[in-house]
Amino acid sequence: MRRIAAVTACVVLMGIGNALAATGGGDVILKNKGGDVLFSHDTHVVGVMLACTDCHDKLYLSKGQHKAVTMKQMQKGKSCGACHSGKKAFSVKGDCAKCHKK
Ligand code: HEC
Ligand code: HEC
Ligand code: HEC
Repeated sequence: MRRIAAVTACVVLMGIGNALAATGGGDVILKNKGGDVLFSHDTHVVGVMLACTDCHDKLYLSKGQHKAVTMKQMQKGKSCGACHSGKKAFSVKGDCAKCHKK
């Protein structure tokens, strides 16, 4: 039974046809001194159609294992900056308010 429960949880996490569960890790608030940033799984997975593996585990693990990255590191391609470089998505070098809410 335990095993079945674990497998079911995985399927729900992968978001396979499940409208009841939040997508992936849901909305994640990344607190920092530039102003809180809301990261939306929904926007990225449902909206932009990225795969979980585009971000997990090479860019992110979980909130518990979060390692803060600076904007300088992001401009060199870490974290959000892996995509937000002005090609695939708006750049971390500008548009601060698209990510940072005061
Ligand atoms: C565009 C990048 C991106 C994609 C795609 C993505 N995630 Fe995430 N995920 C994140 C970020 C950012 C965090 C927060 C990590 C942190 O705080 O260090 C996160 C965190 C999580 C967490 C942990 C939440 C917590 O409470 O600790 C889970 C679970 C998760 N994601 C599952 C998924 C699943 C399943 C998918 C595919 C349906 C997915 N993610 C797709 C970026 C992404
Ligand atoms: C794509 C989204 C995004 C954009 C655009 C963005 N940031 Fe950030 N910023 C973040 C995230 C996410 C963090 C927190 C990172 C972490 O916790 O790993 C952060 C952290 C920071 C920090 C604290 C860390 C540090 O580098 O000192 C400051 C200050 C900051 N941002 C300022 C800015 C300014 C100014 C701009 C515009 C030039 C900007 N950010 C554009 C997402 C963004
Ligand atoms: C794997 C690539 C990838 C990563 C990593 C990624 N994004 Fe995005 N993001 C995109 C794409 C593609 C778009 C849609 C194109 C655009 O808006 O420029 C997008 C759009 C957005 C938007 C606009 C949503 C809207 O409703 O218009 C925000 C805000 C955002 N991302 C924040 C973040 C933050 C914060 C991080 C880091 C924690 C992050 N993204 C990491 C690919 C990524």
